[in-house]
Amino acid sequence: PKPSSSVKLVLLGEAAVGKSSLVLRFVNDAFEPNKEPTIGAAFLTQKCALPTRTIKFEIWDTAGQERFASLAPMYYRNAQSALVVYDITKASSLVKAKHWVAELQRQASPGIVIAVVGNKVDLAEEEDGAEGEVTEGEGEDEGSVRKVSTKEGKAFAEEEGLLFFETSAKSGKNVNEVFTAIANAIPEG
Ligand code: GTP
Ligand code: MG
Repeated sequence: PKPSSSVKLVLLGEAAVGKSSLVLRFVNDAFEPNKEPTIGAAFLTQKCALPTRTIKFEIWDTAGQERFASLAPMYYRNAQSALVVYDITKASSLVKAKHWVAELQRQASPGIVIAVVGNKVDLAEEEDGAEGEVTEGEGEDEGSVRKVSTKEGKAFAEEEGLLFFETSAKSGKNVNEVFTAIANAIPEG
């Protein structure tokens, strides 16, 4: 049998960016269009099989509403990995994600593996796919559903040396890829 190790993972991000939906997609391969806000935090586990080892994620899905912000340190304190999630249709959620990354870099374990995740790409897919058409801007303008360009999200992640993905919990796009990339970045042993 392959060696197996448990890895604590915390999800952080503004309310309603889709943290719980990403976990639901990863754990149950399901999506709920009207998911209720998380109260406090939720705990779930899921395995991720790599070629030479299995990672068992112990997932703390935190609540994004401001009234729960003071609880977050309890969940990230001894986490080995984090998903910092924003919503590509909401510019303020990237600002919030940057704050979470700064807080993790200050307060969490020094070796923590962080992935920056821009969720809800399904909402922008028709626009993004309209290549060759004459458009007014690059997709993040007013009047466009997308408010954070891929370039902006990626530039932030690269500056900070973090993993970066754009996902859709609704379609499932890139969801397994995020968790697999984190698993691969966890040192062996
Ligand atoms: P809190 O628990 O309050 O912090 O919110 P959250 O980040 O866990 O968000 P949640 O997963 O509850 O999703 C909020 C809303 O966005 C729900 O109505 C979801 O169905 C919807 N949603 C989540 N992910 C996606 C996505 O990838 N695409 C679309 N279109 N909607 C999504
Ligand atoms: Mg939630």
